[in-house]
This record gives sequence, C-alpha cells and structure tokens, in this order.
Amino acid sequence: MIDKHVFLVGPMGVGKSTIGRLLAGELGLAFRDTDRIIEERTGADIPWIFDMEGESGFRLRETQVLEDVCREAPAIIATGGGIVTQPRNRELMTDFGVVCYLQASVDQLVERTARDRKRPLLQVDKPRDKIVEILAEREPLYRSVADIVVNTDRHGPKAAIQEILSHL
Ligand code: S3P
Repeated sequence: MIDKHVFLVGPMGVGKSTIGRLLAGELGLAFRDTDRIIEERTGADIPWIFDMEGESGFRLRETQVLEDVCREAPAIIATGGGIVTQPRNRELMTDFGVVCYLQASVDQLVERTARDRKRPLLQVDKPRDKIVEILAEREPLYRSVADIVVNTDRHGPKAAIQEILSHL
C-alpha cells in the first residue's frame, strides 16, 4: 500500500498524464495533474496564461498548485515538464513523495509533441532544437529529484507502469 504521493516528472510529451492515470487506476489512488488544476483554477488554458502572465506567472501558479496537492491524500501526480526548474518544487516533491522520472529519446518527444498547439514553449520554428535545449537544461534537475528512472522509448505505457510498480 502506498502511503505517499508518486510524482511523475519528465519532458513534454513523455506520457506523464497517460501513465499517471493508468497507474492511479492500478493502485486505486486518485490521479492529479498539475497543468489541469492550474487551468481549472485560472479558468483559462496554458497558452492563455503564458500570453497574459508570461512563463514566470505560470510558474507561480504551478508552485501554488503543487503546495496544495502535496497536502492532500496520497495520489499519483503528473506534473508539467518545467516543474523541476523551481527549487521550491524540487524540495516539495522530494519531501512529500516518491519521484519517478519518465524519459524518452528526442525523436520520440519530437514525434509525440509534433501536432500540439497547447505547449507555448514549443511554438517555435525549430521545436526539435528547443526540445534538445530544454532537455540539456533540465535532465540534471530531473535526475536530482528522481527516486526511479523509467525509459518509455521501447515499451508502451503498460510496461512503464509495471516498471514503476516494481520500484514502489
Ligand atoms: C511545460 C510543460 C507543460 C506545461 C507548460 C510548460 C514546460 O506540461 O506545464 O506548457 O515548461 O516543459 P507537459 O510536460 O505536460 O507538456
């Protein structure tokens, strides 16, 4: 029985929400998704928040949501790809649960985010270059908080879940 949160961290498009929802079902725990909670509270989608408040405004909202979900009953919590950029978020996740870093190759991430218009950071001329740049910056941060590292390249969500379960 899990008595603390499981945080899923990793880059955009890696499958945190899909895997998180399935994992929560498997464990009979609630599923939370910080991006969706931010949107519900704001009454607007993420592109709108980035437009109106900039990335820094979004990050403030993200930390507030994380602070709040940490204090709720244990859940599987999918986070936004940039959650690890804020020291306070890294501290909260390591204090309040087990952190699982989901990895995928750049090729996979490019493919999985290709038709997406909801991720402001990837609305650029060369999204692949942006993904490489973001990964270079964040990979050490993901690793610094991770209790479990799971590569999702070769297997589907079900295999990823089995691997996570074997570590819990
Ligand atoms: C972001 C990732 C997004 C969302 C926002 C910023 C990032 O979440 O939080 O667009 O900085 O990597 P996903 O990782 O679920 O796409």
